[in-house]
Amino acid sequence: MAVLGMTFIVNFALLIIPIGVTLAVLFGLDAQRTASGDTPIFTPQPTIIGGGNPDGGGGSGNKLTTKTYCQKSYGITPDTKGQEFTLNPNQWGWDPSEGGGLCMNVTTYDNSTYPTKTTAPEWSITWQYPQGPENQPVHAFPNVLVDGGVFPATVQSLAKIGLDVQWTYGIGNISTKTTDETSLTADTLNANVAVDMFLDADKTNSGNSSKAHYEVMVWFADFGAAAQPIGLAQGIVSTIIVNGTTFNLYYGTNSLKQNVLTWVASETTDNFNGDLLPLITKLFTLNNANFPSATDYLGYFAFGSEAYYSDDFVTFNVPHLAIDVTATSTA
Ligand SMILES: *[C@@H]1O[C@H](CO)[C@@H](O)[C@H](O)[C@H]1NC(C)=O
Ligand SMILES: *[C@@H]1O[C@H](CO)[C@@H](O)[C@H](O)[C@H]1NC(C)=O
Ligand SMILES: *[C@@H]1O[C@H](CO)[C@@H](O)[C@H](O)[C@H]1NC(C)=O
Ligand SMILES: *[C@@H]1O[C@H](CO)[C@@H](O)[C@H](O)[C@H]1NC(C)=O
Ligand SMILES: *[C@@H]1O[C@H](CO)[C@@H](O)[C@H](O)[C@H]1NC(C)=O
Repeated sequence: MAVLGMTFIVNFALLIIPIGVTLAVLFGLDAQRTASGDTPIFTPQPTIIGGGNPDGGGGSGNKLTTKTYCQKSYGITPDTKGQEFTLNPNQWGWDPSEGGGLCMNVTTYDNSTYPTKTTAPEWSITWQYPQGPENQPVHAFPNVLVDGGVFPATVQSLAKIGLDVQWTYGIGNISTKTTDETSLTADTLNANVAVDMFLDADKTNSGNSSKAHYEVMVWFADFGAAAQPIGLAQGIVSTIIVNGTTFNLYYGTNSLKQNVLTWVASETTDNFNGDLLPLITKLFTLNNANFPSATDYLGYFAFGSEAYYSDDFVTFNVPHLAIDVTATSTA
């Protein structure tokens, strides 16, 4: 339980990274991190599909470029003509001396024009970590963050938080077409697939994952016994169905005394298209003084996978992701 409270560090690590780091700058940074001892399990090498610009970004052709990032904790923000996203391997709970590691592949469009205004770059992660101590079992929260000044925004100023995502988890170093839960669990995968959000009455604190009063999570899957929502033992607080997916709410507090509200899909949901705003506004109706309210700011929104441990290498692949945050017309 105290375990999941550690998620805040994840986001803290993310907040201190320079948001404006572009792919062009990245190569320098990557070399620096590698040189200072963050030895990756894989040798990070750009894989150029179709002969794109090896320096990344800024290209003008219609090429796709895939690059591999194995750094511990800073993100990259690819150029885009639409919604801006920051992708981060974010291995906040990992000490390289433990062994294991994680690499993230990100496929960007050289022309900065994605299939829709809200489509994120395609990404995947391949990782393996040994089992960590019970008080800190999470090694990483590789994620894609909604960037570009969309947040903070009060919940009442939002009309929609559209999430359209397809993902797979599989054993091995390459992406699988489907998610075979039985073999993953038999293979000791302990991880979840989740959206992580932070809210607070104070605009600045809402974007600070260690200060925000509320953490609201949406879990699309949880594999292994280590991946449990805070408050699981206290039972289901509420239930909601969003476009055919049933989510059960759990509530508890973490070691920072933050109120953690976790909506857990009743079964593994590797394909979801729906509005997540009702998962926040529903909380307002539950008459609990420890839950957020409509005037609170949503300061942070990221989708990713909390990686606890796995005996074998596993690959989490996100071939399709679009996040469409719309404000009410009066906002
Ligand atoms: C950008 O590149 C993609 C991938 O090749 C292509 O499908 C799209 O048509 C291009 N868009 C523009 C505006 O050039
Ligand atoms: C995955 O990659 C790692 C690091 O390169 C390698 O040690 C391991 O053998 C690979 N596993 C598989 C199943 O290919
Ligand atoms: C990630 O990219 C590396 C090359 O940098 C490649 O070897 C690996 O297969 C890719 N991983 C996946 C899951 O596609
Ligand atoms: C977030 O809050 C913590 C605790 O007060 C503080 O130490 C940290 O500097 C804040 N982070 C940012 C990015 O403001
Ligand atoms: C519900 O999911 C279907 C299938 O993915 C999608 O076509 C539809 O737009 C979704 N509806 C809403 C309201 O998000």
